[in-house]
Amino acid sequence: MTERRDNENLLLFGATGSIGAFILDKLIENKKHFGSIAIFTSPGTIEKKADKIQQLKANGVKVISGDVRNPNEVTNAFEGIDTVISAIGRNVIAEQINWIHLADQASSVKRFFPSEFGTDIEYGPESAHEIPNQQKLKVRAALKQVKNLHYTYIVTGPYAQAEIPAFLGALPSAPEIGSFNVMTKTAVLIGDGTVKISLTTPSDVGKLVVQALLHPDVSRNRALKVNSFTTTPNEILNEFEKQLGETWTVKYTSFDELRRLETNAWNNKHPMAPIFTLRRIWSEGGTLYDKRDNALINGEDMETLADAVKAAISTQKSDSQDAYKDRKFM
Ligand SMILES: NC(=O)c1ccc[n+]([C@@H]2O[C@H](COP(=O)([O-])OP(=O)(O)OC[C@H]3O[C@@H](n4cnc5c(N)ncnc54)[C@H](OP(=O)(O)O)[C@@H]3O)[C@@H](O)[C@H]2O)c1
Repeated sequence: MTERRDNENLLLFGATGSIGAFILDKLIENKKHFGSIAIFTSPGTIEKKADKIQQLKANGVKVISGDVRNPNEVTNAFEGIDTVISAIGRNVIAEQINWIHLADQASSVKRFFPSEFGTDIEYGPESAHEIPNQQKLKVRAALKQVKNLHYTYIVTGPYAQAEIPAFLGALPSAPEIGSFNVMTKTAVLIGDGTVKISLTTPSDVGKLVVQALLHPDVSRNRALKVNSFTTTPNEILNEFEKQLGETWTVKYTSFDELRRLETNAWNNKHPMAPIFTLRRIWSEGGTLYDKRDNALINGEDMETLADAVKAAISTQKSDSQDAYKDRKFM
């Protein structure tokens, strides 16, 4: 049952980013369940995305302009806020440690959802040493130390979408680490394509954040390991072929070869090295759990593999070549 949280005032960081935009859409869709919705964004974003910002204001979102590195501006933004949700990009993940300390001192803030929305960074003993996990692990450590905040980590696994680095994309500059290319009808699968993987569509990420907000007791001080569906690379390929009515050319990269490519990427300071590591973690089953937590937060009504493949086909067909430059990789 959905719990009404009429008095809960929300503040979202990273609101116009790749995943933040989906989270904000779902918050707005569900605004009757909350007190108010505010976003903290930079003056640069307000200028560059002026139309979007106007649209948000028209939807009742309070827009706070500031610098994420300025403690006074962040503290002022926390006034009257009950819950902070961060969807900040990987390049500023560590800033959240300062916000956590500031939020802990702010009298109204009670809950903090850090920017996670990905791989389970405490999946197993190896997770502590994975390079892409390091900043997020420090954020988790800060949340465990503070006294006045509850936290929730929304762990979704890879996104089921075509944009880089998510799983249903072409990844043209490094297809050997896994690729589904709608334009060339080719796929590169890791291993023999049978290792399971759990994926979440961006829209479901937003939905799951809302559900976690509406179920505070079961979400308190824990990772919620959620997803849209569990599948395999072979099943994904079959779905692309089914929807397009064509047989694709398929190549395979072995697990050993993927590890070798990953090592080379780090040694050569390849800008996409973190993606090589994430692909290896995902391909080896690092997104699988005995049981997912969707049911705890009434989050079972999720999109399907067919929905995700349909969206990926549409994105790959309609995007210009620019969309396939590896401009965004983390
Ligand atoms: N599971 C997956 O497959 C997957 C894929 C990608 C990302 N992720 C995770 O999702 C989370 C969000 O990533 P994202 O790709 O959505 O982020 P993003 O689009 O790169 O950035 C999100 C927002 O962060 C803010 N931001 C970024 N750089 C900034 C800077 N230098 N100074 C101030 N603000 C800055 C901006 O906020 P404003 O909008 O307010 O300007 C930006 O829109 C991360 O934790 C990431 O690891 C997961």
